[in-house]
Amino acid sequence: MKKKPPSLRSVQWFGREDIYGFIYRSWVKNRGVPQDQFDGRPVIGICNTYSELVPCNSHFRTIAEHVKAGVLEAGGFPLEFPVMSLGETLLRPTAMLYRNLASMDVEESIRANPLDGVVLLVGCDKTTPALLMGAASVDLPAIAVSGGPMLSGKYRGTDIGSGTNVWSMSEDLRAGRITMDEFHEAESCMHRSHGHCMTMGTASTMASMVEALGVGMPGNAAIPAVDARRNVLARLAGRRVVELVREKIPLSTILTKKAFENAIRANAAIGGSTNAVIHLLAIARRVGVDLTLEDWDRLGRGVHCLANLMPSGKYLMEDFYYAGGLPAVLKELGSSGLLHREALTVNGRTIWENSKDAPCHNRAVIHSIKRPFKKNTGIAVLKGNLCPGGAIIKPSAATPKLMKHRGRAVVFESIEDLHRRIDDPGLDIDENCVMVLKNCGPKGYPGMAEVGNMPLPPKLLKKGVTDMVRISDARMSGTAYGTVVLHVVPEAAAGGALALVQNGDLIELDVAKRKLQLLVSSKELSRRKKSWLKPESPLSRGYWKLYFDHVLQADQGADLDFLAGRSGAFVPRDNH
Ligand code: FES
Repeated sequence: MKKKPPSLRSVQWFGREDIYGFIYRSWVKNRGVPQDQFDGRPVIGICNTYSELVPCNSHFRTIAEHVKAGVLEAGGFPLEFPVMSLGETLLRPTAMLYRNLASMDVEESIRANPLDGVVLLVGCDKTTPALLMGAASVDLPAIAVSGGPMLSGKYRGTDIGSGTNVWSMSEDLRAGRITMDEFHEAESCMHRSHGHCMTMGTASTMASMVEALGVGMPGNAAIPAVDARRNVLARLAGRRVVELVREKIPLSTILTKKAFENAIRANAAIGGSTNAVIHLLAIARRVGVDLTLEDWDRLGRGVHCLANLMPSGKYLMEDFYYAGGLPAVLKELGSSGLLHREALTVNGRTIWENSKDAPCHNRAVIHSIKRPFKKNTGIAVLKGNLCPGGAIIKPSAATPKLMKHRGRAVVFESIEDLHRRIDDPGLDIDENCVMVLKNCGPKGYPGMAEVGNMPLPPKLLKKGVTDMVRISDARMSGTAYGTVVLHVVPEAAAGGALALVQNGDLIELDVAKRKLQLLVSSKELSRRKKSWLKPESPLSRGYWKLYFDHVLQADQGADLDFLAGRSGAFVPRDNH
């Protein structure tokens, strides 16, 4: 056996010449691994979120094979392992409830095993933050590889986008504009290939964040899942992570404050999902970067949306890739002083070296910064007596004339209350009202569901109303749109002022002034607070109870309080 470099942690397992070495190596050999693979070469974990319960990640066995090929080509030893996977479409009550649980699985799986570096296979929304959070708390060299978006949906001659057209078509169905048969047909037309949602929803946003943060290879954001170049990217990532181990570049070297600032501006420039706010805050807290809600507002000011993509625009991720993808957007930002050009990325080059020569092939899809698609589209952070800890709105998905609005509150105490009453023709509501939804935050749902884009009442839809001001402690799908105020902190279930709003109260929204005010006196609010009942955990045991007792509010990333920070990769003892 060759002399092993002492710095590799896997040597503490595979390089031993005692009973433990026998145990650590012998069982691994049971699938035909020769002795020379234990010669001190970097051992690379491939952290796989493949699951048939997560349709967006159903091609990850193939991607893992390409990563493995790359690891072997670079002289590493790949070992694939599964972790809890999270799918938006099937998991109930919401995938977000399990993001922190999955991150614990990832963290402990990496730390407890003989790994020197790791490739994180991510796709459906929560899999990206969960894996990055877990890996950040161990801090080995790591590269995230996204599974890539699906091909564009095609329905009766038009493009349709995941999520975005689900919302619009379900409104069409409720308003009687399409038939049930057409609705069913659209289901088959929308999702017709492997990959994640192909709008600029949360999955595509997080894939873009991976690239903008520098933890993914250039091209990670947009190469379609079924394009051969996605497999090439996976293979290159496999090769490169071996080098990262040899160069001793841990994740924390990449995930700096500057990297997060680049990602925040990139999010504004692509019209990215509001979910990126909560996920980036959580990842930053794991790696020890001081990132706040205020950073989102500060950095997003003056950044324009360049990408004409659903839900803010009309094109889809396939179009985005063919137009130049994220590098073309980063080039615009970097040319305008809106990028920390020196931020290092996992391929060993700076973000500017990766993007400065990026071409744009279609200005209808990726606009220049001089002629942006939409102006001033950074996430706006609102403050006021209704959200002293903050709330957010995505201006690029909102209706401009509603961004300054005063209206009468129509209150729904829970999502069930909303479902029960929204279709009632007798509901006392008009288009100037402000819809308020309570008890859908981290504790209240539990898991902070994506229900903030409440459906509009059919009687108003039939009148042609397409948007109203909506306020909640919930999140919103990245594929949704509207003048929707989200992530109200404190949430109703934590006793925030949101819990005290009553039908008929006046609410004032002024996005330009970053204000969200409940026009009710503090004396009256104190009076109402006296009769507010503190909710109990919906389950008295298990993960739900742990989550309910420890989840932080949205302004801190909704992580569990004891998970902030990193414990590193040290394991104190042998296992026998
Ligand atoms: Fe998986 Fe949208 S449902 S990315």
